[in-house]
Amino acid sequence: MLSPEEQREIEAELPHYPTKQAVSIDAMKIVQKHRGWVSDEALEDIGKFLGMSTSDLDGVATFYNLIFRKPVGRHVVYICDSVSCWIMGATSISDRLTARCGARLGESTADGRFTLLPIVCLGACDHAPVMMVDDDLHLDLEPAKAEDILDRYK
Ligand code: FES
Repeated sequence: MLSPEEQREIEAELPHYPTKQAVSIDAMKIVQKHRGWVSDEALEDIGKFLGMSTSDLDGVATFYNLIFRKPVGRHVVYICDSVSCWIMGATSISDRLTARCGARLGESTADGRFTLLPIVCLGACDHAPVMMVDDDLHLDLEPAKAEDILDRYK
């Protein structure tokens, strides 16, 4: 069941959308903020609240890659792998970070500190290569700089 706080936050979004269904991404983001990820049970809770089927919600979550359908680390590192970043060396960034973390893209570190994920263009191509850690965008990366940035996230 959604907590009273989750319900309140979702209800606060409803006036911004034409239908209850249209708030589904925000609803999943709200639940994820509170629970860390969106489990099958959480999806059912959201579905009951919004009058949507869990399969419809799951479909939305699948296309929206900032919704986590399995547990993630305390910090999520998104490494842009779209064309500008790729040309400017994104592979060297992901190689350095996966080696340092001992986890491949799509995996979490053994200590639960980081999850590394590839992501499509973050809209900062003129500062490629780029990564985002949680909500923070990091620009003009080099491998050593990217590794130093991870040290800031405990
Ligand atoms: S291609 Fe990486 S930010 Fe656009």
